[in-house]
Amino acid sequence: MSFKGKTIVITGGAKGIGAGCAEVFHRQKGNVVIIDIDETAGQQFCNQLGDRALFIHCNISSEKEVQKAMELAVEEFGRLDVLVNNAGIIRYSKVTETSVEEWDNVLNVNLKGAFLCAKHAIPSMLKNGGGVVINMSSVQAFVTQEKVAPYVTSKSALIGLTRSIAVDYAPQVRSVAICPGGVDTPMNEEAFQQSPDPDEVRQETINLHLVDRMARPQEIGEFVAFVASEKGSFINGQPLRIDGGLGIKIGGSKKE
Ligand SMILES: NC(=O)c1ccc[n+]([C@@H]2O[C@H](COP(=O)([O-])OP(=O)(O)OC[C@H]3O[C@@H](n4cnc5c(N)ncnc54)[C@H](O)[C@@H]3O)[C@@H](O)[C@H]2O)c1
Repeated sequence: MSFKGKTIVITGGAKGIGAGCAEVFHRQKGNVVIIDIDETAGQQFCNQLGDRALFIHCNISSEKEVQKAMELAVEEFGRLDVLVNNAGIIRYSKVTETSVEEWDNVLNVNLKGAFLCAKHAIPSMLKNGGGVVINMSSVQAFVTQEKVAPYVTSKSALIGLTRSIAVDYAPQVRSVAICPGGVDTPMNEEAFQQSPDPDEVRQETINLHLVDRMARPQEIGEFVAFVASEKGSFINGQPLRIDGGLGIKIGGSKKE
């Protein structure tokens, strides 16, 4: 697989799954644009990648910032081929405990952010014949833990957005939702650290996966790159799970 001459925009690419995706696309010779609110981590990571990597500071929930970021990406590399809508946040609460502000925060990043990035990336894709929009959903769109109402709502809605993009821009633009299980990233680490016994919660999370581990960000990146490549060109409009067998066993945990 080669992405030589192609431009891949990855939101939330400064760390975690987004950085894993960026590494893979970059190794496969793509021009990589990382959009993130974490300027220090994003800039440092792009320096590490070297040539063909650009960092743009942008909050994806602001249309003005997204529009500017997509313009800068095209200005730098001349075209835009793949958008990975990866940036996301999680907050832990059930419906009756969720403030309107928290609800809006999660939905504004996870859902509105993906919509805005697609809105301002697709016209550039169409100018060079087409492209691919990858939306980072989650297994939580299918099986759900307790107290993540806004997150689960956003991840489920991303599957609808994926379908709409696939239908509205076919055949030039494909769209696919990726639904990972647990991945070893700062997002999960922060969640573990909030509990009184982080090691126990980490182990409980691992136990949910039949393969007895969480995923590495780079292996999600390998999957995303395959789906976005010519080799994945018959995949369209669908949510695809990459989850180590999480949630298929009656009773849940591997150890039960
Ligand atoms: N980690 C998992 O187990 C897991 C599982 C399934 C799905 N996901 C999804 O994968 C995506 C990445 O998760 P992760 O675990 O790598 O998260 P992470 O918190 O480790 O990294 C997310 C990145 O997004 C950036 N970001 C947050 N808000 C932003 C905004 N408004 N604008 C631009 N950038 C912003 C952060 O600065 C960070 O660099 C998320 O959408 C998450 O919901 C994660």
